Amino acid sequence: SIVNCEPLKELVRTVPDFPKPGILFYDITTLLKDKVGMAQLIDAFAAYYIDKDIDLVLGIEARGFIFGPALAYRLNAGFVPVRKPKKLPAATAKVSYDLEYGTDSLEIHLDAIQPGQRVVIVDDLLATGGTMQATVKLVRQLGGEIAGIGFAIELDFLKGRAKFQEYDVLSLLHYDE
Ligand code: PRP
Ligand code: MG
Repeated sequence: SIVNCEPLKELVRTVPDFPKPGILFYDITTLLKDKVGMAQLIDAFAAYYIDKDIDLVLGIEARGFIFGPALAYRLNAGFVPVRKPKKLPAATAKVSYDLEYGTDSLEIHLDAIQPGQRVVIVDDLLATGGTMQATVKLVRQLGGEIAGIGFAIELDFLKGRAKFQEYDVLSLLHYDE
């Protein structure tokens, strides 16, 4: 990113042993409620994508909904929600993905993307990359062009980025443990 986001780390709260013992949770609610932090977060994404001719920002339920629409507004792009199963009312495409225990799935409206539209997919966090990989599959099924994949936070040590080698991946904040 052309904006130095490193100072925003001070606004990210770390919560040990959430949601399970041994997991360190990176909580962005403390960043989002800060008026300067919120503005800098959106500004950093917008600076990176503003000249990339983006048609649509896709946000992944639920935490991708928190800032995806603000970015879409700044890019003069539309916003598309990628949702957990059985929430979208019209015809959908659906992709399942593995969790630590079991599977989950994500859906998108079939008419949400026109073939060739330039899409940025955003989410709060890149961990294993399973959630984003499922969303990438949905966009490809609909014929969208993935112009970028954006995260507020990347957990580098989980190496989720390896799943997206053919894409332009932007993570504003990086953590090594
Ligand atoms: C979290 C996070 C990312 C995903 C990252 O979402 O918001 O979407 O996990 O993990 P991954 O890279 O290993 O797939 P979660 O499914 O917990 O739900 P939420 O966004 O609805 O809170
Ligand atoms: Mg999520």
